[in-house]
Amino acid sequence: MVYTLGIDIGSSSSKALILADGKDIVSSAAIQVGTGTSGPGRVMEEVFRDTGLSLEDIAFTVATGYGRFSVKEADKQISEITCHAKGIFHLIPGARTIIDIGGQDAKAIRLGDNGNILQFYMNDKCAAGTGRFLDVMSRVLEIPLDNMGDAHFKATEWAAVSSTCTVFAESEVISQLSNGVPRENIVAGVHKSVATKTCALVRRCGELQQEVVMCGGVAKNPGAVDAMEKALGAKITVAPNPQITGALGAALLAWEAYQKQQ
Ligand SMILES: Nc1ncnc2c1ncn2[C@@H]1O[C@H](COP(=O)(O)OP(=O)(O)O)[C@@H](O)[C@H]1O
Ligand SMILES: [Mg+2]
Repeated sequence: MVYTLGIDIGSSSSKALILADGKDIVSSAAIQVGTGTSGPGRVMEEVFRDTGLSLEDIAFTVATGYGRFSVKEADKQISEITCHAKGIFHLIPGARTIIDIGGQDAKAIRLGDNGNILQFYMNDKCAAGTGRFLDVMSRVLEIPLDNMGDAHFKATEWAAVSSTCTVFAESEVISQLSNGVPRENIVAGVHKSVATKTCALVRRCGELQQEVVMCGGVAKNPGAVDAMEKALGAKITVAPNPQITGALGAALLAWEAYQKQQ
């Protein structure tokens, strides 16, 4: 058995995955601590726990994500776009459009029939349209991220959150709250705001190609996915375990790199 390791150090969370012979997932882990902190060390500890394996048993390690250059154990660093595309195409071969919304950026990737990357666009300049926007709003609304989906589906109408800046949108939401707008309606409006920005990113990749797959931590929020489906006018498949698809892609690419060495 040959084991490879994929590590994805994002701005909000650290993910790791161990793969056996390039196909079977032995273990995966995600912790809500990102780059610049103890994230890489802690996620490694977590992914090896209860596997009976250690770093010495790993034939090749690929690191990805914003913090990929901080992973000393990595044999190679590969961009998140490549790793997400690899991981998603492995799980869902019908995927042609990938939407990854993480803690500090959002990406739209268009795939060809062989899983090759035809086009991609990324927003990493502005917090609006990313998980950070949702984190801020979840705090202001006093609704935990885990409950944002439930709240969204209770909305009777979607409040207008029109500010394109996170800081101004926060003031807008606070004033809506003090005007008695139901929190559920504001949640739906907040999701719509993220969806509208991400939709613009997807449109830049050209005419929408099905199947559309969402990954990244924000895909764990069914309210955000619903708003995204409405904005695109298309059905979205949420990747299984959507936060770790980058780490999966990294482990698959580590397997390919290992085989090339042989
Ligand atoms: N359980 C959850 N429910 C809803 N949203 C979540 C959950 N966990 C994480 N998120 C969202 O995912 C974002 C982080 O996504 P992630 O893909 O881990 O980011 P990165 O790769 O940039 O570190 C957070 O900002 C948060 O909005
Ligand atoms: Mg990420």
